[in-house]
Amino acid sequence: MKASLKKITQYVCNNCGDSFPKWQGKCESCGSWNTLVEMSFAKTSNNKSGPLTEPITLAEVDTKNTFQRFGAGIDELDRVLGGGVVPGSIVLIGGDPGIGKSTLVLQMAAELSRAGKKVLYVAGEESPEQIKLRSERLKISGNLFQLLPETDVDLVAQVARRDKPDVLIIDSIQTIASSEIPSAPGGVAQITYTASVLQDVAKKNHIATFLIGHVTKEGSFAGPKVLEHLVDTVLYFEGEKTGPARILRSHKNRFGATSEMGIFEMVDGGLSQVKNPSAMLLSEMNVDAPGTVVFPALEGTRPLLVEIQALTSTTSFPSPRRVSYGTDINRLHLLLAVLSRRLNLNLATQDVYINIVGGLKITEPAADLAICLAIYSALKGIVLPKDLVVFGEVGLSGEIRKVRGIKERLVEAKKLGYTKEITPETAKTLFDAVSKLKK
Ligand code: TYD
Ligand code: MG
Repeated sequence: MKASLKKITQYVCNNCGDSFPKWQGKCESCGSWNTLVEMSFAKTSNNKSGPLTEPITLAEVDTKNTFQRFGAGIDELDRVLGGGVVPGSIVLIGGDPGIGKSTLVLQMAAELSRAGKKVLYVAGEESPEQIKLRSERLKISGNLFQLLPETDVDLVAQVARRDKPDVLIIDSIQTIASSEIPSAPGGVAQITYTASVLQDVAKKNHIATFLIGHVTKEGSFAGPKVLEHLVDTVLYFEGEKTGPARILRSHKNRFGATSEMGIFEMVDGGLSQVKNPSAMLLSEMNVDAPGTVVFPALEGTRPLLVEIQALTSTTSFPSPRRVSYGTDINRLHLLLAVLSRRLNLNLATQDVYINIVGGLKITEPAADLAICLAIYSALKGIVLPKDLVVFGEVGLSGEIRKVRGIKERLVEAKKLGYTKEITPETAKTLFDAVSKLKK
């Protein structure tokens, strides 16, 4: 049977990547306006001529070459990647503008080149002069790796196929595009095409590819979400721009765990790895202030002491304000309800603010008890013992539940001189926990 060619036109949302048969002003999936663009696909009938791909068993799949990881030369980055760089994989690194993404990949490029890897750095966003200035600031010598000032993805792919680098860096994915696709760079058509071209080059030539991407104010990647589905690993580079701490966190990883964190400090000579993150995070703590609690977090495999601050003040609003930096606001609402019910605290007239110091984000319920005691301490004006750590999940009836890694958390705490603890093993209920504070 002859393969018949049929053209299909669809309208694809530039924001979320969903497609619709008809044009409409508003995307029904994500609610954004004027984001639908026309895209045409050629559809062939189901009968294709040409050789067939034969099915194989898993035993016949050769992973020897593809999965030989190599170190990125930066331990904290290797940790987040799941133990090094996987050849042929595509890693997307996202973060706010100015957070240090380009600095990170530049330092990685230098380290990899020193270790004998061939690196190609595609500069789409900045001029070679700007990159040179940054590299001088980082004391990186000028002849370590190759720089390619190019924004056309087809030309980048040609150079990559010809030169076969071990690592390809694209800074940034939003600036490179193809002249074959009529829409603007950063749109869904461009991103999908660009990512598929790079994926093809990466997989066929075993090139580990790092894509830099900007995130929007809401924290997702600018341009379509589809990009996150197309890559193997998504890392986010976070932190308060005004402070030195920078946290690299894995959001999706086909080759490792997603809970790992890498911790850096932005200093004059670039990003430096923080070997003792607990000490850094606690260095500015005011131990004499009520509302401050030390919480041994366990993100991934590494325990980390973080400072949780709470502030309560009598509200001047009809309904009190609840503000939370670094933890889930809904979890805070829940804990406030438990506190007011189980400890008879009058929180309905209090604004409550929670801050995780250092720009860290804490997602584990093990922080519940620390948050509760921070609020209690702030409200009652009680200063907690300065060598105390607190953790445990708080249930709706005020019971304290076990969490994973109790031993690891306590070992880290002892290392830094925190010898007292309130944990699921030492307190069964919220009431138990606060009575320990009064003693
Ligand atoms: P950059 O890597 O350009 O950020 P991104 O690529 O994520 O937009 O980092 C820019 C910031 O980092 C800038 O505000 C200056 C700061 N910085 C230092 O503090 N020290 C340094 O050695 C370098 C290179 C940058
Ligand atoms: Mg940059």
